[in-house]
Amino acid sequence: MPTDLHAWNALLHHHDAIRDTQMREWFEGDAAPRVAQFSLEAAGLYLDYSKNRITPETFGLLMQLAEEAGVSRRRDAMFAGEHINATEDRAALHVALRAAANAPFKVDGKPVMPDIQSVLVRMRSFAGRVRSGDWKGASGKPITDIVNIGIGGSDLGPRMVCRALSHLADADGNAAPRMHFVSNVDGTELAETLVRLDPHQTLVIVCSKTFTTLETMANACSMREWFLASGVAQSGLARHFVAVSTNVDAVRKFGIDPANMFEFWDWIGGRFSLWSSVGLSIALAVGFNAFADLLAGGRAMDEHFRTAPIERNMPVIMGMLGIWYRNFFSLPTTCMAPYSTSLELFPAFLQQLEMESNGKSVQLDGRRVRAHTSPVVWGTAGTNGQHAYFQQIHQGSQIVPVDFVAPLVPPRKLSGHHAKLLANCFAQAEALMRGRSADELRAAGMTDELRIAHMVFEGNRPSNTLLMEDLTPHVLGALIALYEHRTFVQGVVWNINSFDQWGVELGKILARPIEAELSGGAVGQHDASTATLIARARAVLGSENEA
Ligand code: F6P
Repeated sequence: MPTDLHAWNALLHHHDAIRDTQMREWFEGDAAPRVAQFSLEAAGLYLDYSKNRITPETFGLLMQLAEEAGVSRRRDAMFAGEHINATEDRAALHVALRAAANAPFKVDGKPVMPDIQSVLVRMRSFAGRVRSGDWKGASGKPITDIVNIGIGGSDLGPRMVCRALSHLADADGNAAPRMHFVSNVDGTELAETLVRLDPHQTLVIVCSKTFTTLETMANACSMREWFLASGVAQSGLARHFVAVSTNVDAVRKFGIDPANMFEFWDWIGGRFSLWSSVGLSIALAVGFNAFADLLAGGRAMDEHFRTAPIERNMPVIMGMLGIWYRNFFSLPTTCMAPYSTSLELFPAFLQQLEMESNGKSVQLDGRRVRAHTSPVVWGTAGTNGQHAYFQQIHQGSQIVPVDFVAPLVPPRKLSGHHAKLLANCFAQAEALMRGRSADELRAAGMTDELRIAHMVFEGNRPSNTLLMEDLTPHVLGALIALYEHRTFVQGVVWNINSFDQWGVELGKILARPIEAELSGGAVGQHDASTATLIARARAVLGSENEA
Protein backbone atom coordinates (compact mmCIF):
# COMPACT_ATOMS: atom_id res chain seq x y z
CA MET A 1 0.00 0.00 0.00
CA PRO A 2 1.50 3.37 -0.92
CA THR A 3 -0.20 4.84 2.12
CA ASP A 4 1.80 2.53 4.41
CA LEU A 5 5.12 3.85 3.18
CA HIS A 6 7.21 5.83 5.59
CA ALA A 7 7.62 8.79 3.21
CA TRP A 8 3.87 8.90 2.56
CA ASN A 9 3.18 9.48 6.22
CA ALA A 10 6.03 11.95 6.51
CA LEU A 11 4.50 13.86 3.60
CA LEU A 12 1.11 13.93 5.34
CA HIS A 13 2.70 15.66 8.34
CA HIS A 14 4.78 17.89 6.14
CA HIS A 15 1.67 18.91 4.19
CA ASP A 16 0.03 20.02 7.43
CA ALA A 17 3.06 22.14 8.17
CA ILE A 18 3.35 23.95 4.84
CA ARG A 19 -0.11 24.00 3.34
CA ASP A 20 -0.77 27.59 4.38
CA THR A 21 2.59 28.95 3.27
CA GLN A 22 2.38 31.36 0.37
CA MET A 23 4.64 30.55 -2.56
CA ARG A 24 5.21 34.23 -3.18
CA GLU A 25 7.17 34.40 0.08
CA TRP A 26 9.69 32.05 -1.50
CA PHE A 27 10.03 34.44 -4.42
CA GLU A 28 10.55 37.56 -2.36
CA GLY A 29 14.13 38.80 -2.47
CA ASP A 30 16.58 36.79 -4.50
CA ALA A 31 14.82 33.63 -5.64
CA ALA A 32 17.43 32.71 -8.24
CA PRO A 33 18.67 29.79 -6.09
CA ARG A 34 15.11 28.45 -5.87
CA VAL A 35 14.69 28.60 -9.64
CA ALA A 36 18.09 26.98 -10.15
CA GLN A 37 17.24 24.25 -7.68
CA PHE A 38 13.77 23.60 -9.07
CA SER A 39 14.48 23.54 -12.78
CA LEU A 40 16.28 21.23 -15.16
CA GLU A 41 16.92 20.46 -18.79
CA ALA A 42 16.67 17.15 -20.57
CA ALA A 43 16.37 16.05 -24.21
CA GLY A 44 15.74 19.59 -25.46
CA LEU A 45 13.13 20.45 -22.81
CA TYR A 46 13.54 23.00 -20.03
CA LEU A 47 11.33 22.42 -17.01
CA ASP A 48 10.76 25.19 -14.46
CA TYR A 49 8.94 23.66 -11.50
CA SER A 50 9.80 26.40 -9.02
CA LYS A 51 6.18 27.66 -8.98
CA ASN A 52 5.07 24.63 -7.01
CA ARG A 53 4.12 24.43 -3.36
CA ILE A 54 7.29 22.69 -2.42
CA THR A 55 10.30 23.40 -0.25
CA PRO A 56 13.58 21.49 -0.41
CA GLU A 57 12.15 19.31 2.37
CA THR A 58 9.01 18.54 0.34
CA PHE A 59 11.15 17.68 -2.62
CA GLY A 60 13.35 15.37 -0.57
CA LEU A 61 10.33 13.55 0.82
CA LEU A 62 8.76 13.17 -2.61
CA MET A 63 11.99 11.65 -3.93
CA GLN A 64 12.10 9.37 -0.89
CA LEU A 65 8.55 8.27 -1.66
CA ALA A 66 9.54 7.51 -5.26
CA GLU A 67 12.36 5.28 -4.01
CA GLU A 68 10.27 3.57 -1.35
CA ALA A 69 7.51 2.89 -3.88
CA GLY A 70 10.06 1.21 -6.15
CA VAL A 71 10.11 3.63 -9.10
CA SER A 72 13.73 2.78 -10.05
CA ARG A 73 13.14 -0.94 -9.70
CA ARG A 74 9.93 -0.91 -11.74
CA ARG A 75 11.50 1.32 -14.38
CA ASP A 76 14.36 -1.17 -14.75
CA ALA A 77 11.84 -4.01 -14.99
CA MET A 78 10.03 -2.17 -17.80
CA PHE A 79 13.26 -1.65 -19.74
CA ALA A 80 14.18 -5.31 -19.14
CA GLY A 81 10.99 -6.44 -20.91
CA GLU A 82 9.51 -8.06 -17.80
CA HIS A 83 5.77 -8.71 -17.80
CA ILE A 84 4.97 -5.54 -15.91
CA ASN A 85 1.52 -5.57 -17.51
CA ALA A 86 0.65 -8.35 -15.10
CA THR A 87 -3.12 -8.57 -15.66
CA GLU A 88 -2.54 -9.18 -19.37
CA ASP A 89 0.69 -11.10 -18.69
CA ARG A 90 2.70 -8.97 -21.11
CA ALA A 91 5.71 -6.73 -21.29
CA ALA A 92 5.17 -3.01 -21.88
CA LEU A 93 8.15 -2.34 -24.08
CA HIS A 94 7.25 0.72 -26.15
CA VAL A 95 10.74 2.05 -25.34
CA ALA A 96 12.17 -0.59 -27.71
CA LEU A 97 10.28 0.98 -30.61
CA ARG A 98 12.44 4.09 -30.44
CA ALA A 99 15.69 2.42 -29.40
CA ALA A 100 18.89 2.19 -31.42
CA ALA A 101 18.90 -0.67 -33.93
CA ASN A 102 21.48 -2.60 -31.92
CA ALA A 103 19.76 -2.18 -28.52
CA PRO A 104 19.55 -5.41 -26.53
CA PHE A 105 15.76 -5.41 -25.92
CA LYS A 106 14.10 -8.79 -25.57
CA VAL A 107 10.57 -9.99 -24.92
CA ASP A 108 10.26 -13.50 -23.49
CA GLY A 109 13.89 -14.12 -24.34
CA LYS A 110 13.52 -13.15 -28.00
CA PRO A 111 15.36 -10.06 -29.34
CA VAL A 112 12.77 -7.61 -30.67
CA MET A 113 14.93 -5.11 -32.54
CA PRO A 114 15.16 -7.12 -35.82
CA ASP A 115 11.34 -7.18 -36.16
CA ILE A 116 11.07 -3.52 -35.22
CA GLN A 117 13.74 -2.56 -37.73
CA SER A 118 12.21 -4.57 -40.53
CA VAL A 119 8.83 -2.85 -40.06
CA LEU A 120 10.59 0.53 -39.99
CA VAL A 121 12.32 -0.30 -43.27
CA ARG A 122 8.96 -1.12 -44.86
CA MET A 123 7.42 2.05 -43.44
CA ARG A 124 10.27 4.13 -44.86
CA SER A 125 9.90 2.62 -48.29
CA PHE A 126 6.10 2.88 -48.35
CA ALA A 127 6.03 6.46 -47.05
CA GLY A 128 8.65 7.43 -49.62
CA ARG A 129 6.67 5.88 -52.47
CA VAL A 130 3.39 7.49 -51.48
CA ARG A 131 4.90 10.91 -50.82
CA SER A 132 6.89 10.96 -54.05
CA GLY A 133 3.87 9.94 -56.12
CA ASP A 134 5.38 6.58 -57.06
CA TRP A 135 2.59 4.66 -55.30
CA LYS A 136 -0.51 5.11 -57.45
CA GLY A 137 -4.20 4.48 -56.92
CA ALA A 138 -5.95 1.80 -59.02
CA SER A 139 -6.60 4.24 -61.86
CA GLY A 140 -2.94 5.30 -62.01
CA LYS A 141 -3.28 8.60 -60.18
CA PRO A 142 -0.99 9.59 -57.29
CA ILE A 143 -2.28 9.78 -53.74
CA THR A 144 -3.32 13.24 -52.51
CA ASP A 145 -5.36 12.32 -49.42
CA ILE A 146 -4.71 9.88 -46.60
CA VAL A 147 -7.39 8.72 -44.17
CA ASN A 148 -6.34 7.09 -40.90
CA ILE A 149 -9.24 5.05 -39.55
CA GLY A 150 -8.64 4.17 -35.91
CA ILE A 151 -9.72 5.16 -32.42
CA GLY A 152 -8.14 5.68 -28.99
CA GLY A 153 -4.45 4.90 -29.18
CA SER A 154 -4.79 4.13 -32.89
CA ASP A 155 -5.95 7.69 -33.46
CA LEU A 156 -5.10 10.20 -30.73
CA GLY A 157 -1.30 9.83 -30.85
CA PRO A 158 -0.77 9.94 -34.62
CA ARG A 159 -3.49 12.59 -35.03
CA MET A 160 -1.80 14.77 -32.39
CA VAL A 161 1.68 14.37 -33.91
CA CYS A 162 0.48 15.03 -37.47
CA ARG A 163 -1.20 18.20 -36.23
CA ALA A 164 1.84 19.27 -34.23
CA LEU A 165 4.26 18.81 -37.13
CA SER A 166 2.05 20.00 -39.98
CA HIS A 167 4.40 22.94 -40.52
CA LEU A 168 7.00 20.39 -41.69
CA ALA A 169 4.67 18.47 -44.02
CA ASP A 170 6.53 19.45 -47.19
CA ALA A 171 9.95 20.05 -45.64
CA ASP A 172 11.43 17.06 -47.51
CA GLY A 173 10.52 18.61 -50.85
CA ASN A 174 7.48 16.42 -51.51
CA ALA A 175 3.97 17.78 -51.83
CA ALA A 176 2.24 17.27 -48.48
CA PRO A 177 -0.66 14.83 -48.64
CA ARG A 178 -3.85 16.00 -46.96
CA MET A 179 -4.35 14.05 -43.73
CA HIS A 180 -7.75 13.00 -42.40
CA PHE A 181 -8.48 11.12 -39.20
CA VAL A 182 -11.75 9.28 -38.73
CA SER A 183 -12.38 7.74 -35.35
CA ASN A 184 -16.00 8.07 -34.26
CA VAL A 185 -18.65 5.54 -35.20
CA ASP A 186 -20.95 8.56 -35.58
CA GLY A 187 -21.34 8.43 -39.36
CA THR A 188 -21.23 12.21 -39.51
CA GLU A 189 -17.46 12.15 -39.15
CA LEU A 190 -16.88 9.77 -42.05
CA ALA A 191 -19.59 11.30 -44.21
CA GLU A 192 -18.12 14.78 -43.78
CA THR A 193 -14.69 13.43 -44.65
CA LEU A 194 -15.81 11.55 -47.75
CA VAL A 195 -17.21 14.64 -49.45
CA ARG A 196 -13.70 16.10 -49.44
CA LEU A 197 -12.09 13.07 -51.08
CA ASP A 198 -11.45 11.78 -54.59
CA PRO A 199 -11.55 7.98 -54.27
CA HIS A 200 -8.97 7.57 -57.04
CA GLN A 201 -6.44 9.58 -55.07
CA THR A 202 -7.21 8.44 -51.54
CA LEU A 203 -5.29 5.97 -49.42
CA VAL A 204 -6.82 4.47 -46.26
CA ILE A 205 -4.88 3.18 -43.28
CA VAL A 206 -7.04 0.89 -41.17
CA CYS A 207 -5.24 1.19 -37.87
CA SER A 208 -6.25 -1.13 -35.07
CA LYS A 209 -4.20 -3.21 -32.69
CA THR A 210 -6.93 -5.83 -32.37
CA PHE A 211 -8.66 -5.27 -35.74
CA THR A 212 -11.94 -5.95 -33.97
CA THR A 213 -12.79 -2.50 -32.60
CA LEU A 214 -16.40 -1.69 -33.46
CA GLU A 215 -15.86 1.91 -34.53
CA THR A 216 -12.84 1.20 -36.68
CA MET A 217 -14.33 -1.82 -38.40
CA ALA A 218 -17.62 -0.01 -39.09
CA ASN A 219 -15.77 2.94 -40.62
CA ALA A 220 -13.43 0.67 -42.60
CA CYS A 221 -16.40 -1.27 -44.04
CA SER A 222 -18.22 1.92 -44.99
CA MET A 223 -15.08 3.27 -46.59
CA ARG A 224 -14.70 0.10 -48.65
CA GLU A 225 -18.33 0.40 -49.81
CA TRP A 226 -17.64 4.00 -50.80
CA PHE A 227 -14.65 3.02 -52.94
CA LEU A 228 -16.64 0.30 -54.69
CA ALA A 229 -19.62 2.60 -55.22
CA SER A 230 -17.29 5.26 -56.63
CA GLY A 231 -15.98 3.03 -59.38
CA VAL A 232 -12.86 1.53 -57.83
CA ALA A 233 -12.96 -2.19 -58.65
CA GLN A 234 -12.59 -4.79 -55.92
CA SER A 235 -9.29 -5.82 -57.52
CA GLY A 236 -8.04 -2.23 -57.22
CA LEU A 237 -8.72 -1.85 -53.50
CA ALA A 238 -5.21 -3.07 -52.64
CA ARG A 239 -3.91 0.23 -54.00
CA HIS A 240 -6.14 2.15 -51.58
CA PHE A 241 -6.12 0.15 -48.33
CA VAL A 242 -3.30 -0.74 -45.97
CA ALA A 243 -3.58 -2.10 -42.45
CA VAL A 244 -1.71 -1.49 -39.21
CA SER A 245 -2.35 -4.23 -36.69
CA THR A 246 -1.14 -7.08 -34.53
CA ASN A 247 -3.89 -9.36 -35.90
CA VAL A 248 -2.92 -10.73 -39.31
CA ASP A 249 -5.87 -13.15 -39.50
CA ALA A 250 -8.44 -10.41 -39.00
CA VAL A 251 -6.65 -8.20 -41.53
CA ARG A 252 -6.79 -10.99 -44.11
CA LYS A 253 -10.42 -11.68 -43.31
CA PHE A 254 -11.28 -8.04 -43.87
CA GLY A 255 -9.79 -8.37 -47.33
CA ILE A 256 -6.46 -6.59 -46.95
CA ASP A 257 -3.49 -8.52 -48.29
CA PRO A 258 -1.05 -9.13 -45.38
CA ALA A 259 1.62 -7.82 -47.79
CA ASN A 260 -0.06 -4.44 -47.24
CA MET A 261 -0.07 -4.81 -43.46
CA PHE A 262 2.36 -3.09 -41.13
CA GLU A 263 2.78 -5.18 -38.05
CA PHE A 264 3.19 -4.35 -34.38
CA TRP A 265 3.05 -6.50 -31.29
CA ASP A 266 0.88 -7.19 -28.26
CA TRP A 267 3.55 -5.90 -25.88
CA ILE A 268 2.79 -2.36 -27.06
CA GLY A 269 -0.20 -0.74 -25.38
CA GLY A 270 -2.53 1.18 -27.70
CA ARG A 271 -1.89 4.54 -26.00
CA PHE A 272 1.88 3.95 -26.21
CA SER A 273 1.83 2.84 -29.85
CA LEU A 274 2.43 5.94 -31.97
CA TRP A 275 6.11 4.93 -32.16
CA SER A 276 5.21 1.69 -33.94
CA SER A 277 3.58 1.21 -37.33
CA VAL A 278 0.64 3.06 -35.76
CA GLY A 279 2.82 6.05 -36.67
CA LEU A 280 2.54 5.21 -40.39
CA SER A 281 0.25 8.21 -40.85
CA ILE A 282 2.99 10.38 -39.29
CA ALA A 283 5.61 9.05 -41.71
CA LEU A 284 3.19 9.71 -44.58
CA ALA A 285 2.31 13.18 -43.33
CA VAL A 286 5.79 14.55 -42.65
CA GLY A 287 8.16 12.03 -44.23
CA PHE A 288 9.99 9.12 -42.69
CA ASN A 289 13.03 11.17 -41.66
CA ALA A 290 10.86 13.35 -39.45
CA PHE A 291 9.28 10.22 -37.97
CA ALA A 292 12.78 8.87 -37.27
CA ASP A 293 13.63 12.16 -35.53
CA LEU A 294 10.52 11.77 -33.39
CA LEU A 295 11.74 8.31 -32.37
CA ALA A 296 15.18 9.76 -31.59
CA GLY A 297 13.60 12.37 -29.32
CA GLY A 298 11.69 9.67 -27.47
CA ARG A 299 14.93 7.73 -27.17
CA ALA A 300 16.73 10.75 -25.69
CA MET A 301 14.05 11.03 -22.99
CA ASP A 302 14.21 7.27 -22.35
CA GLU A 303 17.93 7.55 -21.81
CA HIS A 304 17.41 10.42 -19.38
CA PHE A 305 14.67 8.55 -17.52
CA ARG A 306 16.76 5.37 -17.35
CA THR A 307 20.01 6.94 -16.20
CA ALA A 308 19.47 10.29 -14.44
CA PRO A 309 19.40 10.22 -10.63
CA ILE A 310 15.81 10.50 -9.50
CA GLU A 311 16.26 13.98 -8.03
CA ARG A 312 17.41 15.22 -11.49
CA ASN A 313 14.99 13.04 -13.43
CA MET A 314 12.28 14.97 -15.25
CA PRO A 315 9.60 12.26 -15.52
CA VAL A 316 10.14 11.28 -11.88
CA ILE A 317 9.96 14.89 -10.67
CA MET A 318 6.82 15.64 -12.67
CA GLY A 319 5.24 12.38 -11.60
CA MET A 320 5.92 13.04 -7.94
CA LEU A 321 4.61 16.62 -8.14
CA GLY A 322 1.40 15.14 -9.53
CA ILE A 323 1.26 12.76 -6.56
CA TRP A 324 1.81 15.69 -4.18
CA TYR A 325 -1.25 17.51 -5.48
CA ARG A 326 -3.49 14.51 -6.10
CA ASN A 327 -2.88 12.73 -2.81
CA PHE A 328 -1.83 15.36 -0.30
CA PHE A 329 -3.78 18.42 -1.50
CA SER A 330 -6.59 16.11 -2.77
CA LEU A 331 -6.88 18.02 -6.04
CA PRO A 332 -9.12 16.12 -8.46
CA THR A 333 -8.09 17.64 -11.79
CA THR A 334 -5.07 18.92 -13.64
CA CYS A 335 -4.88 21.17 -16.69
CA MET A 336 -2.60 20.84 -19.71
CA ALA A 337 -2.18 24.23 -21.35
CA PRO A 338 0.02 24.16 -24.45
CA TYR A 339 0.69 27.69 -25.65
CA SER A 340 0.86 26.47 -29.21
CA THR A 341 -1.93 25.84 -31.68
CA SER A 342 0.29 23.13 -33.16
CA LEU A 343 0.00 21.29 -29.83
CA GLU A 344 -3.76 21.81 -29.52
CA LEU A 345 -4.42 18.06 -29.56
CA PHE A 346 -1.88 17.31 -26.85
CA PRO A 347 -4.46 17.59 -24.02
CA ALA A 348 -6.72 15.01 -25.70
CA PHE A 349 -3.76 12.68 -26.20
CA LEU A 350 -2.73 13.14 -22.59
CA GLN A 351 -6.26 12.43 -21.41
CA GLN A 352 -6.12 8.91 -22.79
CA LEU A 353 -2.51 8.41 -21.73
CA GLU A 354 -3.13 9.30 -18.10
CA MET A 355 -6.76 8.44 -17.52
CA GLU A 356 -6.77 5.10 -19.35
CA SER A 357 -3.44 4.20 -17.74
CA ASN A 358 -4.03 5.33 -14.18
CA GLY A 359 -7.82 5.55 -13.85
CA LYS A 360 -7.82 2.42 -11.67
CA SER A 361 -8.92 1.58 -8.14
CA VAL A 362 -7.28 -1.80 -7.64
CA GLN A 363 -3.65 -2.45 -6.84
CA LEU A 364 -1.44 -5.00 -8.56
CA ASP A 365 -2.15 -7.42 -5.72
CA GLY A 366 -5.94 -7.12 -6.19
CA ARG A 367 -6.56 -5.00 -3.10
CA ARG A 368 -8.29 -1.65 -3.38
CA VAL A 369 -5.96 1.35 -3.56
CA ARG A 370 -6.41 3.44 -0.45
CA ALA A 371 -5.41 6.63 -2.25
CA HIS A 372 -6.88 8.59 -5.13
CA THR A 373 -5.37 7.72 -8.50
CA SER A 374 -5.45 9.55 -11.85
CA PRO A 375 -6.81 13.07 -11.73
CA VAL A 376 -9.12 14.26 -14.48
CA VAL A 377 -6.88 15.66 -17.21
CA TRP A 378 -8.23 18.46 -19.34
CA GLY A 379 -7.18 21.57 -21.20
CA THR A 380 -6.87 23.30 -24.52
CA ALA A 381 -4.40 25.50 -26.32
CA GLY A 382 -3.54 28.90 -24.92
CA THR A 383 -4.46 31.67 -25.19
CA ASN A 384 -7.95 30.28 -25.96
CA GLY A 385 -8.30 28.74 -22.51
CA GLN A 386 -7.71 32.14 -20.90
CA HIS A 387 -10.98 33.36 -22.40
CA ALA A 388 -12.90 30.29 -21.38
CA TYR A 389 -11.99 28.58 -18.11
CA PHE A 390 -8.95 30.35 -16.69
CA GLN A 391 -11.32 32.42 -14.56
CA GLN A 392 -11.94 29.24 -12.57
CA ILE A 393 -8.25 28.36 -12.38
CA HIS A 394 -7.45 31.83 -10.98
CA GLN A 395 -10.37 32.39 -8.64
CA GLY A 396 -12.34 29.13 -8.41
CA SER A 397 -12.83 27.40 -5.09
CA GLN A 398 -10.66 24.44 -6.05
CA ILE A 399 -7.03 24.59 -7.08
CA VAL A 400 -6.09 23.19 -10.50
CA PRO A 401 -2.37 22.54 -11.11
CA VAL A 402 -1.42 23.59 -14.63
CA ASP A 403 1.30 22.43 -17.00
CA PHE A 404 2.23 25.20 -19.41
CA VAL A 405 4.08 24.02 -22.53
CA ALA A 406 5.51 26.45 -25.07
CA PRO A 407 7.90 26.45 -28.03
CA LEU A 408 10.11 29.58 -27.97
CA VAL A 409 10.25 29.73 -31.77
CA PRO A 410 6.85 29.65 -33.47
CA PRO A 411 6.28 26.82 -35.94
CA ARG A 412 4.80 29.39 -38.31
CA LYS A 413 5.97 32.97 -38.06
CA LEU A 414 3.66 35.96 -38.16
CA SER A 415 5.23 39.20 -37.03
CA GLY A 416 4.52 40.17 -33.42
CA HIS A 417 2.29 37.22 -32.56
CA HIS A 418 4.71 34.98 -30.76
CA ALA A 419 5.85 37.51 -28.17
CA LYS A 420 2.19 38.10 -27.31
CA LEU A 421 1.59 34.37 -27.00
CA LEU A 422 4.61 33.74 -24.78
CA ALA A 423 3.93 36.83 -22.70
CA ASN A 424 0.49 35.49 -21.91
CA CYS A 425 1.82 32.07 -21.06
CA PHE A 426 4.40 33.42 -18.62
CA ALA A 427 1.93 35.94 -17.19
CA GLN A 428 -0.63 33.25 -16.41
CA ALA A 429 1.93 31.25 -14.44
CA GLU A 430 3.09 34.38 -12.65
CA ALA A 431 -0.45 35.44 -11.79
CA LEU A 432 -1.33 31.98 -10.50
CA MET A 433 1.70 31.96 -8.24
CA ARG A 434 1.61 35.57 -6.97
CA GLY A 435 -2.06 36.39 -6.95
CA ARG A 436 -3.09 39.94 -6.06
CA SER A 437 -3.88 40.99 -2.52
CA ALA A 438 -6.43 43.49 -1.23
CA ASP A 439 -3.58 45.66 0.02
CA GLU A 440 -2.06 45.78 -3.42
CA LEU A 441 -5.38 46.91 -4.86
CA ARG A 442 -5.73 49.59 -2.19
CA ALA A 443 -2.16 50.72 -2.78
CA ALA A 444 -3.08 51.08 -6.46
CA GLY A 445 -5.84 53.50 -5.43
CA MET A 446 -8.90 51.30 -5.20
CA THR A 447 -11.31 52.25 -2.45
CA ASP A 448 -14.47 50.30 -3.17
CA GLU A 449 -14.15 47.36 -0.74
CA LEU A 450 -16.84 45.30 -2.48
CA ARG A 451 -15.00 45.61 -5.74
CA ILE A 452 -11.72 44.83 -4.01
CA ALA A 453 -13.23 41.64 -2.60
CA HIS A 454 -14.05 40.48 -6.12
CA MET A 455 -10.70 41.49 -7.57
CA VAL A 456 -8.47 39.70 -5.09
CA PHE A 457 -6.56 36.72 -6.48
CA GLU A 458 -5.52 34.33 -3.74
CA GLY A 459 -2.58 33.08 -5.77
CA ASN A 460 -0.50 30.21 -4.42
CA ARG A 461 -1.71 28.14 -7.37
CA PRO A 462 0.90 25.76 -8.74
CA SER A 463 2.16 25.30 -12.25
CA ASN A 464 5.02 23.79 -14.23
CA THR A 465 6.42 25.51 -17.29
CA LEU A 466 8.00 23.40 -20.01
CA LEU A 467 9.87 25.23 -22.74
CA MET A 468 11.40 23.98 -25.94
CA GLU A 469 13.32 26.00 -28.47
CA ASP A 470 11.65 24.80 -31.69
CA LEU A 471 8.77 22.43 -32.11
CA THR A 472 10.89 19.85 -33.92
CA PRO A 473 10.00 16.15 -34.30
CA HIS A 474 12.87 15.41 -31.92
CA VAL A 475 11.66 17.60 -29.09
CA LEU A 476 8.06 16.49 -29.63
CA GLY A 477 9.23 12.90 -29.25
CA ALA A 478 10.93 13.83 -26.00
CA LEU A 479 7.81 15.62 -24.75
CA ILE A 480 5.57 12.63 -25.44
CA ALA A 481 8.01 10.20 -23.82
CA LEU A 482 8.27 12.53 -20.82
CA TYR A 483 4.53 12.29 -20.20
CA GLU A 484 4.50 8.54 -20.85
CA HIS A 485 7.12 8.04 -18.16
CA ARG A 486 5.48 10.52 -15.81
CA THR A 487 2.29 8.46 -16.09
CA PHE A 488 4.26 5.29 -15.40
CA VAL A 489 5.95 6.79 -12.32
CA GLN A 490 2.57 7.69 -10.83
CA GLY A 491 1.21 4.22 -11.56
CA VAL A 492 4.18 2.74 -9.69
CA VAL A 493 3.52 4.90 -6.65
CA TRP A 494 -0.16 3.94 -6.64
CA ASN A 495 0.90 0.29 -7.14
CA ILE A 496 -1.50 -0.15 -10.06
CA ASN A 497 -1.09 -1.60 -13.54
CA SER A 498 -0.82 1.38 -15.90
CA PHE A 499 -0.93 -0.84 -18.98
CA ASP A 500 -4.32 -2.54 -18.94
CA GLN A 501 -7.76 -0.99 -19.55
CA TRP A 502 -10.44 -3.35 -18.28
CA GLY A 503 -12.64 -0.37 -17.52
CA VAL A 504 -13.53 0.11 -21.18
CA GLU A 505 -14.98 -3.41 -21.54
CA LEU A 506 -18.37 -3.38 -19.84
CA GLY A 507 -19.89 -0.57 -21.87
CA LYS A 508 -18.77 -2.26 -25.09
CA ILE A 509 -20.41 -5.54 -24.03
CA LEU A 510 -23.68 -3.89 -23.06
CA ALA A 511 -23.80 -1.91 -26.32
CA ARG A 512 -24.07 -5.07 -28.45
CA PRO A 513 -27.60 -6.17 -27.42
CA ILE A 514 -28.76 -2.55 -27.30
CA GLU A 515 -27.64 -2.06 -30.90
CA ALA A 516 -29.70 -5.10 -31.90
CA GLU A 517 -32.68 -3.72 -29.96
CA LEU A 518 -32.37 -0.32 -31.66
CA SER A 519 -32.37 -2.11 -35.00
CA GLY A 520 -35.76 -3.65 -34.25
CA GLY A 521 -34.80 -6.79 -32.28
CA ALA A 522 -36.62 -7.94 -29.17
CA VAL A 523 -35.88 -5.76 -26.16
CA GLY A 524 -34.23 -7.56 -23.26
CA GLN A 525 -34.00 -6.77 -19.57
CA HIS A 526 -32.81 -3.27 -18.68
CA ASP A 527 -33.18 -0.90 -15.79
CA ALA A 528 -36.15 1.47 -16.19
CA SER A 529 -34.02 4.42 -17.22
CA THR A 530 -32.17 2.56 -19.96
CA ALA A 531 -35.38 0.89 -21.15
CA THR A 532 -37.01 4.32 -21.54
CA LEU A 533 -34.05 5.67 -23.50
CA ILE A 534 -34.18 2.65 -25.82
CA ALA A 535 -37.91 3.05 -26.30
CA ARG A 536 -37.55 6.72 -27.20
CA ALA A 537 -34.79 5.94 -29.71
CA ARG A 538 -36.73 3.04 -31.21
CA ALA A 539 -39.74 5.27 -31.74
CA VAL A 540 -37.69 7.72 -33.81
CA LEU A 541 -35.44 5.19 -35.53
CA GLY A 542 -38.48 3.06 -36.42
CA SER A 543 -40.26 5.93 -38.16
CA GLU A 544 -37.00 6.99 -39.84
CA ASN A 545 -36.52 3.50 -41.22
CA GLU A 546 -40.09 3.49 -42.52
CA ALA A 547 -39.70 6.94 -44.15
O1 F6P B 1 -11.42 1.12 -25.92
C1 F6P B 1 -10.13 1.29 -25.49
C2 F6P B 1 -9.10 0.78 -26.44
O2 F6P B 1 -8.89 -0.58 -26.23
C3 F6P B 1 -7.82 1.57 -26.32
O3 F6P B 1 -7.02 1.14 -25.30
C4 F6P B 1 -7.22 1.41 -27.67
O4 F6P B 1 -6.22 2.35 -27.91
C5 F6P B 1 -8.45 1.59 -28.52
O5 F6P B 1 -9.48 0.94 -27.80
C6 F6P B 1 -8.37 1.09 -29.92
O6 F6P B 1 -8.08 -0.28 -29.97
P1 F6P B 1 -7.59 -0.96 -31.30
O7 F6P B 1 -6.30 -0.33 -31.70
O8 F6P B 1 -7.46 -2.41 -30.99
O9 F6P B 1 -8.63 -0.72 -32.36
